[in-house]
Amino acid sequence: MRVLQARDWESSGPILQIKNLHVHYLTADGAVQAVRGVDFTLNAGQRLALVGESGCGKTTLALAIMRLLRPPAQIVEGEIWLDGRNLLALNDEEMRLTRLADVSLVTQAAMNALNPVMRIEDQIIDGLQDHGIQWSKDEFGGYVRSLLANVGLDASAARMFPHELSGGMKQRVGMATATALKPKLIIADEPTSALDVVVQRQVMTTLGRLQRETGAAVILVGHDMGLVAQFADWVGVMYAGKLVELSPVEQIVQDPQHPYSKLLIQSVPGLEEKRERLIGIPGMPPRLIDLPSGCLFAPRCPSAMEHCLQTEPSLEPVAGNRQVACYLYAESYSQNNGAEVNA
Ligand SMILES: Nc1ncnc2c1ncn2[C@@H]1O[C@H](COP(=O)(O)OP(=O)(O)OP(=O)(O)O)[C@@H](O)[C@H]1O
Ligand SMILES: [Mg+2]
Repeated sequence: MRVLQARDWESSGPILQIKNLHVHYLTADGAVQAVRGVDFTLNAGQRLALVGESGCGKTTLALAIMRLLRPPAQIVEGEIWLDGRNLLALNDEEMRLTRLADVSLVTQAAMNALNPVMRIEDQIIDGLQDHGIQWSKDEFGGYVRSLLANVGLDASAARMFPHELSGGMKQRVGMATATALKPKLIIADEPTSALDVVVQRQVMTTLGRLQRETGAAVILVGHDMGLVAQFADWVGVMYAGKLVELSPVEQIVQDPQHPYSKLLIQSVPGLEEKRERLIGIPGMPPRLIDLPSGCLFAPRCPSAMEHCLQTEPSLEPVAGNRQVACYLYAESYSQNNGAEVNA
């Protein structure tokens, strides 16, 4: 039977580098600044969870990496490097070939993106042929069955149409497709949010196993800090288009630094033992048009200081291999301007 091997790539070291990425939606009311200066590096095989409230730019960032943004979205600044290649410099055909082969996307919407009149195996084979793979019918059939088995689906699913599958099974097909060409990076944008809790856990377990077996790096986008914390090695917290904290998962769960991360962690039942009920985070995220100066979290921040209203803090390294965008961790400000403005 045919098997595709994960192609050679650096087994450690950076797979994805995002440099000062800015994405705007150019609307009649002005530019919605959905991604604002995001910078991070993901190493081969790492699992990064991106969390943050609805509208903070997670999907926009994921689509920017896939180069699947549509107008009015525009990447206005920055660079995206995948395994040493500048994705923003590729032409459309090069990018089409890069998708699936080097980076693939699993989304909640992917469940509905399956072609309703095509059998599952034909859809997967289509993707392989699109990338130049020429095998016999039997070879394709055998490979599809192995992919389905990898995601816990019976071989009979190959001959089914999408409407014959449950939501969880469709999401497994999505993962089988996403891993068919053994990409270096898998982006999973809320892959389980349409599924019930039991199926969510099964799908996450399968994604974890696929990650281990293929060695791909994974970016998991989600709201649910509890779910992503069980999966990820690293957590990136986004607020209003910006990465405000980037930290190994144990550290952020036990000792979040950014006041927004603290509130996110507190709002997860079970992550903090003393909590008795779900705490919402007071206030609303800002509209991302006509942004005020200063830290955009300051109006909701229990620790905001005068200085926070004037200049936005940038993501800076702090102890323990972490990065935080908050003046509480910049000594000159936390000591001299300690007055809390939202007290
Ligand atoms: N087509 C569009 N036109 C204008 N603004 C948009 C468009 N798509 C998204 N936005 C805005 O961009 C910002 C980021 O949206 P995005 O979908 O990336 O957030 P998200 O973090 O994925 O949210 P969710 O958790 O709800 O999926 C939001 O303020 C949103 O309103
Ligand atoms: Mg989203």
